[in-house]
Amino acid sequence: MTDYKLLSEQLKALAEDEPNYLPVLSNASALINENLDDLNWAGFYLMNNGSLLLGPFQGKVACIRIALGMGVCGTAAEKDETLVVPNVHEFPGHIACDCASNSEIVVPIHKDGKVVGVLDIDSPSLNRFSDEDKAGLEEFVRTLEAVIQFN
Ligand code: SME
Repeated sequence: MTDYKLLSEQLKALAEDEPNYLPVLSNASALINENLDDLNWAGFYLMNNGSLLLGPFQGKVACIRIALGMGVCGTAAEKDETLVVPNVHEFPGHIACDCASNSEIVVPIHKDGKVVGVLDIDSPSLNRFSDEDKAGLEEFVRTLEAVIQFN
């Protein structure tokens, strides 16, 4: 089981040196990729001109723009809700960037109360993300929101 408390502490320490969103999100995707097992994609989409634009990530080449309400990412962003999808093939409108993905979690990121992006993590296993993962990753995103500078 991932030590999410430690992961959030590591993120805080990294952002102390440089809070700019680009290195923080880049290192955040690396931290997740290194510390969670059984993943095939971990990264960020950021709100840009009313839709989600691909940001820093680890994994295979991914789709560049996702409209609000589309796929797991666009739905999580529109609803402002963490979505845990045990089987992506049963999610209406799921966007398959990597056909190896079988389960997914998407956590919205906020600034001043508004959704400014999402953390998206994919796994080749069905039902990879537990309630503990959901709580830990939401805590990770709360830490991210507290330390990051979007400018
Ligand atoms: N599967 C996502 C698209 C992004 S990729 O997984 C990296 C979705 O349905 O929104």
